[in-house]
Amino acid sequence: MYSSDFGKDFLWGVATAAAQIEGAASVYGKGPSIWDTFSKKPGKIKKGHKPDEACDFYHRYEQDIAMVKTLGFKVFRMSIAWSRIFPLGGGTVNAEGVAFYHEVIDECLKNDLIPMVTLYHWDLPEALSKEGGWTAYGINNAFNEYALFCAKEYGDKVKQWIVINEPFGFTSLGYMLGVHAPGLTGVTNFFEAALHTAIAQADGAKILRAEVNQAVIGTAFSCSEIVPYSHSDQDVMIAKRTDILMNRFFLEPALGLGFPTGNWDVLEKFAISYSTWRHQSRMAFDFDFIGIQNYFPLVIKYNAFIPVVQAWEVKAKSRKVPHTAMGWEINADSFYRIIKQFATYPQVKNIMITENGAAFHDKLIDGKIEDGERVDYFKAYLAAMLKAKNEGINITGYLAWTLMDNFEWAEGYQARFGLVHNDFKTQQRTIKQSGYWWQEFLSK
Ligand code: BGC
Repeated sequence: MYSSDFGKDFLWGVATAAAQIEGAASVYGKGPSIWDTFSKKPGKIKKGHKPDEACDFYHRYEQDIAMVKTLGFKVFRMSIAWSRIFPLGGGTVNAEGVAFYHEVIDECLKNDLIPMVTLYHWDLPEALSKEGGWTAYGINNAFNEYALFCAKEYGDKVKQWIVINEPFGFTSLGYMLGVHAPGLTGVTNFFEAALHTAIAQADGAKILRAEVNQAVIGTAFSCSEIVPYSHSDQDVMIAKRTDILMNRFFLEPALGLGFPTGNWDVLEKFAISYSTWRHQSRMAFDFDFIGIQNYFPLVIKYNAFIPVVQAWEVKAKSRKVPHTAMGWEINADSFYRIIKQFATYPQVKNIMITENGAAFHDKLIDGKIEDGERVDYFKAYLAAMLKAKNEGINITGYLAWTLMDNFEWAEGYQARFGLVHNDFKTQQRTIKQSGYWWQEFLSK
């Protein structure tokens, strides 16, 4: 299997996110983001790691972009740090930050790479978080100001856009479970954040459509095949609910279908009280592509003691199935099935795999990084994607997560997902075996 098996127009790339690679977190005029403040709170990030320096991409972007080219990719997915443009979330613009993204984008174009820009990859300006962040009604005006600015500023050079990265990911982890920034908990916070995020997703897309000539606009959803632990009615019912939350909750409003409720009283109440008919049309947009990001399937069991969702995850480790260093099940067939699930909506025109990858305990042998497990992972997942594509699903591209080991949110620097190893003390980059495997795969 080589890249040419996927057709000559297929877009191959690597994905990154500002807060995970840039560093320079509190200099050059950048305002603090919620991840800067969250990481300063004790116990929130493993080993007390902070995104302050990350991969120092801010100073090393030329070398890193050259590396993307060396590996043979065509697309460089990056995100803009909102608080580097608007240190306070809106109003005063930080010219140095604006110039930085021009430089990065220009560097991509110089290297014949397509820059794909994510507007929001989780690093909300702290100033907005103080006013309630995604739970506050005012967030939509602030987001629209930011989206409009980026569209006008970069739209001549950037044609590929992703509005929001994993709405379910950050609203559930950050506003319901409290394990990601800003660390809020509770169902009410989640629902408020979800509604404003679903609105922002479509608002941002509409702004890009109006401002950017020939824009190709997508948004990126996390997705996981949900498998009931047993055939019992309760396990099947709870698996369906989990599927609604994890796979359908943000997708369906974007497709114009409103929030799904699945006869679940909790969601029915939410749909009635929070989401009126006005919101239903506002949350919809005819996206050029639907980004899907898959890392694991979930096996779900009913558990009456878990509040609200009553769903309990039966971990891959306890089921003794192959898993990554994050404990995430490795299952390429499940990747194939979730692609098919997303493709069943007639409103989904194209699918792009905007993230997929795995963390492993890479080994350093004779100065080389041996990560055969990652190579096997990609081989299996790409074969599964090819199968779906050959069955007629319009898959337009695949972006590997991620270029280099980076700041993996609450896991800090320990979880390594890169095709390139990074030594965080010296910032020395070393291409891993998997990076060379990609180079070969993309060469034919
Ligand atoms: C996120 C990335 C993250 C990756 C691995 C995705 O949910 O978009 O930022 O690093 O998963 O956890």
